Amino acid sequence: MTAVDPTPSAPRKRLRPDQVDLSVSLGPLTLANPIVTASGCFGNGREIHRFFDVATLGAVVVKSITVEPREGLPAPRMAETANGMLNAIGLQNPGIDAWLATELPWLNRHGIPIIVSIAGKTAAEYRFLAERLRDQPGILAIEANISCPNVEDRDIVFACREESTRDAISQVTRVSSVPVFAKLTPDVTDIVAIAETAAAAGAVGVSMINTLLGMAIDVETRRPKVAAVTGGLSGPAIKPVAVRAIHQVHQALPELPIIGMGGVRTIEDVVELILAGASAVAVGTATFGNPVVTRELVDALPRWCAERDISSVAELLGAVQL
Ligand SMILES: Cc1cc2nc3c(=O)[nH]c(=O)nc-3n(C[C@H](O)[C@H](O)[C@H](O)COP(=O)(O)O)c2cc1C
Repeated sequence: MTAVDPTPSAPRKRLRPDQVDLSVSLGPLTLANPIVTASGCFGNGREIHRFFDVATLGAVVVKSITVEPREGLPAPRMAETANGMLNAIGLQNPGIDAWLATELPWLNRHGIPIIVSIAGKTAAEYRFLAERLRDQPGILAIEANISCPNVEDRDIVFACREESTRDAISQVTRVSSVPVFAKLTPDVTDIVAIAETAAAAGAVGVSMINTLLGMAIDVETRRPKVAAVTGGLSGPAIKPVAVRAIHQVHQALPELPIIGMGGVRTIEDVVELILAGASAVAVGTATFGNPVVTRELVDALPRWCAERDISSVAELLGAVQL
């Protein structure tokens, strides 16, 4: 006798994309969906708001803001590389006072979930910026971009050393009225140790990875392709480094929320970073080629999940099978 399926003709219930729960939590923060913009690749969203409603993203991480306005580095500031790009922009931004006066009101008027990236030359500058942001309306979190040279320590990037990571992050967490994320550089031997240090200094999570330091030379002119000689490498070429770094930190510190970024372009890239351990995924370089890529990813994610009967994006978090 052969076994009979009791419901042979019952159609399999398929999840619809609108039934997928896209919300993600990062410690005390909840985002409506995990797709956010990577600092420096979206400005404050003003230009791109012409193409779609930027408030539909999980959050906008704004271009890093400094104490004083900065004009940035001399041109050329960008160069294409195989599957990526080098940039040496030099944190061009209007400075905290102008940003608070003009950009923050614009972001709030449009209901955009805001994560403010700050960058300093000294630990005291990080503190000053966090103080200026204290109790300002509409700010979900601060992302302290500590992938910057520390002028008080031979210009060594803050996030390359545990001590200066602790100094900068604790200055911010001491005064901030919102959760703080530490943005880490992959240019270190042990990124887990830096993430642990940032968490011990009060960061609720980490953002990773910033660009990798690179260099490219024009062989005809024999000159570096960016005027600053070296620049930050981003784009698809760095994605495996991002996946590895996120995986390492998530395995060591599973409770530490991670905003992951590095080379994300497609929905598969988004899912790959979440499987490695990122709760939210930021998109940077891909926006230059396709200004609406973040919006497309917000639409694609529930479809991707529904096709696989995954009812909540949170189910994918750190779910790599080892
Ligand atoms: C042109 C450009 C400017 C950037 N500016 C900043 C910045 O101001 N602050 C920051 O934390 N990261 C900055 N980044 C790094 C990105 O936020 C991101 O960490 C990195 O590019 C990796 O992501 P991607 O490959 O998707 O671009 C910048 C990257 C690029 C390409």
